[in-house]
Amino acid sequence: MFKTLGVSVAPMELNPRDIVPEFWYNIIPDLPRPLPPPRDPPGADFSRIDLLRDIMPQEVLRQQFTVERFVKIPEEVRDRYLNIGRPTPLLRARKLEEKLRTPARIYFKYEGATPTGSHKINAAIPQAYYAQAEGISAVTTETGAGQWGTAVALAASMFGLKSSVFMVRVSYEQKPMRKTIMNLYGADVYASPTNFTEAGKRALSRDPNHPGSLGIAMSEAVEYALKQRWKYLVGSVLDVVLLYQSVIGLETSTQLEAVGEEPDVLIGCVGGGSNFGGFAFPFLGHGTKARLIAVGPAEVPKFSSGKYEYDYPDEAGLLPMIKMLTLGREYVPPPIYAGGLRYHGVAPSLSLLMQEGRVEWREYEEPEIFEAAKLFSETQGIVPAPESAHAVKAVVDEAMRAKRDGERRTIAFNLSGHGLLDLSNYESMMKRFKS
Ligand SMILES: Cc1ncc(COP(=O)(O)O)c(C=O)c1O
Repeated sequence: MFKTLGVSVAPMELNPRDIVPEFWYNIIPDLPRPLPPPRDPPGADFSRIDLLRDIMPQEVLRQQFTVERFVKIPEEVRDRYLNIGRPTPLLRARKLEEKLRTPARIYFKYEGATPTGSHKINAAIPQAYYAQAEGISAVTTETGAGQWGTAVALAASMFGLKSSVFMVRVSYEQKPMRKTIMNLYGADVYASPTNFTEAGKRALSRDPNHPGSLGIAMSEAVEYALKQRWKYLVGSVLDVVLLYQSVIGLETSTQLEAVGEEPDVLIGCVGGGSNFGGFAFPFLGHGTKARLIAVGPAEVPKFSSGKYEYDYPDEAGLLPMIKMLTLGREYVPPPIYAGGLRYHGVAPSLSLLMQEGRVEWREYEEPEIFEAAKLFSETQGIVPAPESAHAVKAVVDEAMRAKRDGERRTIAFNLSGHGLLDLSNYESMMKRFKS
């Protein structure tokens, strides 16, 4: 990989095979202090860590605990990456720059260019690949907005696996088109909470009209995988997912180098932290001096109000506890909020880097991200996913700051997805925030 990273090449000489890396980058050995490991709760009735062995593909679990800095991408996975159009484009947002009259140069890595419309497919492909290679016939997962579910449905079909997706009920009802795509790829989709798992039944007994949450859907998918002897594919938060997502940052680094740029500021939105880690961590691996800014919603205030402590990734507590910034596993976001990024915790490696002050954070309110999404749509023509609009808002603020400081900074951000299937969210925002 450093073969291509180390050499300066003119953009026209780059072909896709030069840009898509041969290794994933793992930040764990480069963290400023050791990462607190996943653990079983004290005095637990059963071992969650042992349970992981039953629910995750073995190779994925092995890679979750690896301390190697680079992990070889299997040829078949790299081939799939190329086949879905990787490398994704790195574009310069000139019209946005002009509109803001900023001296800053703004680049964005466009992960919305994948067939499923977001970065999530980068982590779904290797997990489906390993599951299939281990002789598994079917996989399950949860999904909130539907981006991860869509990615799993496609990756599963690529490798001839059946898939079942537990989709948070409110999204299931508000986003019927996401369900349609998953069905087209061959997946079964259920509105969570369902009554075919204990976790689902418990939630329904508390409230028969329970809107669902990512934490509950996760518990349901895990429980279902156990019952069916299928495997569970994990979409964010665990560090192995950030490892798979490192293709984003590795490609970006090569692409920026090809145009003679070095970033001063790197920005990404954070749900569980996978697109942010995938985008920004490879630059840390290269020893970047850039400022890193993680962006989240003020409505799900895990940066400002979260505690850095051991908590469960899922609501029922079937998965091992991990040390992370968290609002608590039972957190349910405000019902009206349509901006995405609703997960209660932050990936352990990213949480640690935030504790250390190496990664800054911002939280924005929904009307602010709506304005930013509108500005980006009008100037660049791409409707961002509501999640990604959080990053766009921080980019606008940083571009204005560069203007005040009179500095030609290079700002690079990850546009994690497009919003073409999130138009109902924007419809809701337009109604509520009309000026
Ligand atoms: C387009 C998009 N961006 C960002 C996220 C946040 O997840 P993560 O922080 O794992 O990248 C999601 C989650 O569903 C998403 O769909």
